[in-house]
Amino acid sequence: MCGIIGYIGNREAQAILFNCMSRLEYRGYDSCGIAIGGKNIHSIKNKGRVIELQENAPRIEGTLGIGHTRWATHGTPNAVNAHPHFDCHGKIAVVHNGIITNYLQLIRKLKNKGHEFVSETDSELIPHLIEEYYCGDLQDAVEKALDEIEGTLAIIVLKEDIEELIASRRNSPLVIGIAENEVFVASDVPAIVEFTNKIVYLEDGDTARISKDKIRIKRNEVTITPVINEINVTKTEIEKNGFDHFMLKEIREEPEIIEQSLDMLTNEKNIDEYRQVIREVSDISIIGCGTSYHAGLVGKYIIEEALGIPVRVELASELNHRHRMIIPDLTIAITQSGETADVLVPLKKLHQCQAHTTVITNVYGSTASRISDSVLYTHAGPEISVAATKTFIAQLLELYKITFYSSIIDTDSRMYAHKELMCISEKVKQMLENDVQFQRCGEFLSEHNEVFFIGRGINFPIALEGALKLKEISYIHAEGYAGGEIKHGPFALLDENTPVIALLTRDGTRDAMISNIKEIQARKSPVIVISDSQDKDIDGITDAVITVPQVPYLFSPIVNTIAVQLIAYYGAKFKGCPIDNPRNLAKTVTVE
Ligand code: AGP
Repeated sequence: MCGIIGYIGNREAQAILFNCMSRLEYRGYDSCGIAIGGKNIHSIKNKGRVIELQENAPRIEGTLGIGHTRWATHGTPNAVNAHPHFDCHGKIAVVHNGIITNYLQLIRKLKNKGHEFVSETDSELIPHLIEEYYCGDLQDAVEKALDEIEGTLAIIVLKEDIEELIASRRNSPLVIGIAENEVFVASDVPAIVEFTNKIVYLEDGDTARISKDKIRIKRNEVTITPVINEINVTKTEIEKNGFDHFMLKEIREEPEIIEQSLDMLTNEKNIDEYRQVIREVSDISIIGCGTSYHAGLVGKYIIEEALGIPVRVELASELNHRHRMIIPDLTIAITQSGETADVLVPLKKLHQCQAHTTVITNVYGSTASRISDSVLYTHAGPEISVAATKTFIAQLLELYKITFYSSIIDTDSRMYAHKELMCISEKVKQMLENDVQFQRCGEFLSEHNEVFFIGRGINFPIALEGALKLKEISYIHAEGYAGGEIKHGPFALLDENTPVIALLTRDGTRDAMISNIKEIQARKSPVIVISDSQDKDIDGITDAVITVPQVPYLFSPIVNTIAVQLIAYYGAKFKGCPIDNPRNLAKTVTVE
């Protein structure tokens, strides 16, 4: 969950580290720190955001250094627990992303040998352990230390008087960026894309010895030649470009993402990829967490309705603790980041059982993409806001494509779906222009403490997603419910201070939903209906209507999602919340 960065080159490291750390903040932002190497190591760290540390930092000269943005796991966010951590003599500095599971045992052992610890973290043991093994070769000492450590990690190590960085990863992401006489190491590509587009993806177990003009990677005891990938993420993709928040910018990108996703279908090779995913299978399981889980729930409706294949959708975090794993013919794992620990654990188990897996992810080279049989990239570009928005829409598009381009669907259904999907982006553009209705609703919700979202059928998951989005960024308590379920308990919570957002679509669920809305109104709750049509059926039974474009039922989650995303965004904005970096959260959740 934390972000780590390393730099070695000819330029002053301090400014570069701060720049990259600000781009890594979405991974954790409760505290941060840097260490600059050279003859001696100088370090500064603090509780709070990178900008606060940067503004108060003295100038530290040096052309190599490491930095860290933290999402606390062991120990409260404060300057002592912030990284980098040091050995006893302040000669070895380490930044770490991950969790060490045998830390108590290792700390005990090190204390018995006279090591003194200052923080409450598990990470601090790493420099101490390296110090124990150091006999003149830093890489050797790092490798020996890592042999003793259990858990997940990506680390960068700096030692005084050595013009090298050592980096290593195990189940936490780490990439190396190469430029002219300078090298970057980072938790992800967007952190360093301003400086280079030449990226080397480290694999689990790799250790890299990095100087400004040379990288030596050791994999399975052998030094390998690094494979350099030229990636096409641009700086504008990681800037706000005039928007107040990344979240709004990312929602505004959705029509383009839909178009790009459908453009992939003009290439026969891509179409073939979609044909291959669902073939002769008798059951499918979809796994994911949070928003990606909600995409999976929509996927169930799409696949079951269009293909008639039963789909089980599982919270990946729950699956991990089952005594018995039921293995379906196909498992689709959905994970924007491709690094969510709760998804990686079952995915690895499935891989070991030789079960067939496909991953839908937005991050090229992510761990999930490397442990599955096939990968569908969502190509949504970097998503910086902690709240997933455009990547959710892109995940839905992948689910539509694997369904309607599957080798087992009839041609008419495919052509119909294709024609309808092609019209959606234009409709979404028009909807985004009528922003005021979402602003008004957001303002109204911002004055309340409890909100319900209800939906039926394929829009039930969108009610869940609307509630997740609202609570995540506005801190308003929100619940998503199936329209028919709300009377089975939650009715007890309804009163004039509890608004209900109802998703009403012209489909088989419409009449039942209208009955639910009337029942809610009778309990005095304000009802705001998100509807694809405004007619006499809903006159007088709602306090406000938000109109979304009419699209066929199976595609209605696209427009309804964008509506609930915007409502959540404006709700949080009216409350003055830190929308892109909500408290206690992190974009990539690499702990179980
Ligand atoms: C979404 O807004 C959340 N930040 C969160 O629920 C997220 O979807 C979840 O952590 C899963 O992440 P992933 O898609 O990267 O696996």
